Amino acid sequence: MSVSGERLRHPLAERLSAGFEHRYGDGFVVTRPGGLVMPAEFLLDAQRVHDFPVRQDDVWLVTFPKSGTTWTQELVWLLMNDLDFETAKETCITKRFPYLEHVSLVPAAVRQGAPDSIRQAADQPAPRLVKSHLPPALLPRQLWTVKPKIIYVARSPKDAATSFYYHNCLIHGLKLSLDEFLECFLADCVQFTPYWTSVLEFWKLRNEPNILWNTYEEMKQDLGAVIRKTAAFLDKEVTEEQVRQLEQHLSFSSMRDNPATNYGGVVEASRQRLRLPPAPGGLSFMREGQVGASRRRMSPEMDRRFDQWIRDHVRGTDYSGPL
Ligand code: A3P
Repeated sequence: MSVSGERLRHPLAERLSAGFEHRYGDGFVVTRPGGLVMPAEFLLDAQRVHDFPVRQDDVWLVTFPKSGTTWTQELVWLLMNDLDFETAKETCITKRFPYLEHVSLVPAAVRQGAPDSIRQAADQPAPRLVKSHLPPALLPRQLWTVKPKIIYVARSPKDAATSFYYHNCLIHGLKLSLDEFLECFLADCVQFTPYWTSVLEFWKLRNEPNILWNTYEEMKQDLGAVIRKTAAFLDKEVTEEQVRQLEQHLSFSSMRDNPATNYGGVVEASRQRLRLPPAPGGLSFMREGQVGASRRRMSPEMDRRFDQWIRDHVRGTDYSGPL
């Protein structure tokens, strides 16, 4: 099937684009298939992503943005590489665990010279590790026939959306208030929305033998249990001593202070490309690392609207993931 898209015509999409100071100058599109909102540039690469040749021994990590992707990438990379903490600390996670569609998100104005993430993902030695934020309809179609191991990580939509707001401020200098951004999010006008397409479709697939369903909230509550569960899924043995080492390495403070996982260089490079001043002190990719803190940041009115929106979307489903 070929991937196409139509321009997203919605006043909130215009407002979001203005908040990005028109860096996504061609606006946003809604893809077909998938109904995903993406910057128009995505269509330049969407077919290449969809046709990406999959291998049986790949390990895929799929999430809605800001759901604990980097945290899980670091865990999976270590499990797949004999707990080689030294190399993990020396090499940025983006090099060790490529983000498939990343190239398609780089605004056209600053795309020249950006690395081709699709080629990076393809050219890895086996077993390849690939990250994506795409829903099933846009992911490589061979995923559903070759059936490599796929880990999906879900996070409460309020926390993921709030984290996404701060991410966009940090990396792209977004100039909207949190409530304004969340209004765009609830109206499915933000890149990678609708949130529910990704989460509910993977929820339905969660019992497939090649799919592991994890959540950010479980990782916060009992990281050791998630480490053991993920290791078993990947057919890796870990001793209790190794679980303790991993817990230490994967703690929020350790990942925040680790240049290979906190994206410091990526944040600064993006801000420089966009001619933004250096990130204000204290702001970093590893921001807060909490469950439920977003409720205190949005207005009470937005919190109520969010609750209603959640009820509307899970009604009639058997979803019992994080809300
Ligand atoms: P917050 O912005 O809420 O702090 P992703 O990697 O999918 O972009 O997710 C980023 C979110 O995961 C951020 O959330 C980040 O702080 C959080 N995160 C990353 N590593 C973490 C860790 N070791 N412990 C807790 N949260 C972590």
